[in-house]
Amino acid sequence: MTDALNEPLTLTEDVTLPNRIGKAAMSENLCDTEGTIDGKLVKLYERWGRGGAGMLITGNVIVHRDGRTEPHNVVLDGDRNLPMLKRWAEAAQADGSKLFMQINHAGRQTMRAVTWEPVAPSAVAVKRPGVFSVPRPLEDAEIEDLIERYAFAASQAYAAGFAGAQIHGAHGYLVSQFLSPLTNLRTDRWGGSLDNRMRFVLEIARAMRKATSPTFAITAKLNSADFQRGGFSSEDSVLVAQALEAEGLNLLEISGGSYEKPAMMGAARESTRKREAYFLDYAEKMRETVKMPLMVTGGFRTRAGMLEARETGAVDVVGIARPFAVDPDIARRLLDGDETPLQQGDTKVGVRLFDDLLNLWWYQGQMERMASGQEPLPDLGKFGMLARNLGGVTKHVLARRFS
Ligand SMILES: Cc1cc2nc3c(=O)[nH]c(=O)nc-3n(C[C@H](O)[C@H](O)[C@H](O)COP(=O)(O)O)c2cc1C
Repeated sequence: MTDALNEPLTLTEDVTLPNRIGKAAMSENLCDTEGTIDGKLVKLYERWGRGGAGMLITGNVIVHRDGRTEPHNVVLDGDRNLPMLKRWAEAAQADGSKLFMQINHAGRQTMRAVTWEPVAPSAVAVKRPGVFSVPRPLEDAEIEDLIERYAFAASQAYAAGFAGAQIHGAHGYLVSQFLSPLTNLRTDRWGGSLDNRMRFVLEIARAMRKATSPTFAITAKLNSADFQRGGFSSEDSVLVAQALEAEGLNLLEISGGSYEKPAMMGAARESTRKREAYFLDYAEKMRETVKMPLMVTGGFRTRAGMLEARETGAVDVVGIARPFAVDPDIARRLLDGDETPLQQGDTKVGVRLFDDLLNLWWYQGQMERMASGQEPLPDLGKFGMLARNLGGVTKHVLARRFS
């Protein structure tokens, strides 16, 4: 078919996406506790690669083991994973998809199951007592070291044959903590004015480019806003996007929110809003001054909604996450003109923490199935997944507390 979802998109001299459907990052949590990659991730991405998406973004790959979002993330703090990164890139890209490594550090959003001593720009804890500790403010030299770690991870992706890398600058993780005046109370060159708060992400983008090549696609995922009073605003977001564009960023993915306000999952949605994608209005605002390709993620469920979003001129890539865990072939179907709405599997029992974990582990359970060669199971039992994972996390929390 030739329509606005099937058009190719060139990001760099070497990287052209074959179409406009992007699988957004979903943390797979499939490694051992050292962050070592094995055949499971390769198998999962081989399956997704067969599904026809133009872009596959990995779940967050972590630059420091004490900054994992979950105990079983990929950690790149040396080159021991390089042979498996190569197999990962090969499997994902065998049928034409382009693979991007999302690079992250959880900062203050590092759970106690990972460490009781997280680091962050400032000592501002996530408002979920019991799950997160008060973080220690980073020293200047540690910030410089972290910038180099993000660049190192990008250089590993480049060496392994990934098409690009993505700085995770959204969802309240470390980069996002530097950007927000609610979590960055620093008075040095990394805090205060927006110019200072965005220094961390700009230096990461610069260091990544230096460590890779002009032909490697460097992208970022950025919050349209924090959706918290006094936080990172949509005006700030546009200014950061402009600055990233000036650094030569090849694509920007727009999302929003944090653990305290999970707008990325639809939590900040105005009930009167007609559009299915949560951040389309923000993308349109950004498009007024930002020329680089924009990907918008969150809420897309119908082909008509995607085509309508493409028509605005503000959305170059349609980002989709949860439905890819329920059906790995959605891109192919959408590209072939199938109008069946996409499925997701969220459950609500009404207690936020409980719901978040229930859903996270259910999606990860589907990824685990694909990673072991099975197909997803839409009626996979949620409470069984919850019970299984709670046991594991309790073990990790106790191990970290008493080690
Ligand atoms: C299980 C799960 C894991 C996720 N992990 C990540 C992640 O590692 N990095 C990220 O940027 N977003 C992550 N997300 C958020 C998605 O990328 C996306 O922004 C969100 O699910 C909204 O898109 P959707 O409505 O198409 O699902 C995750 C979402 C889910 C459900």
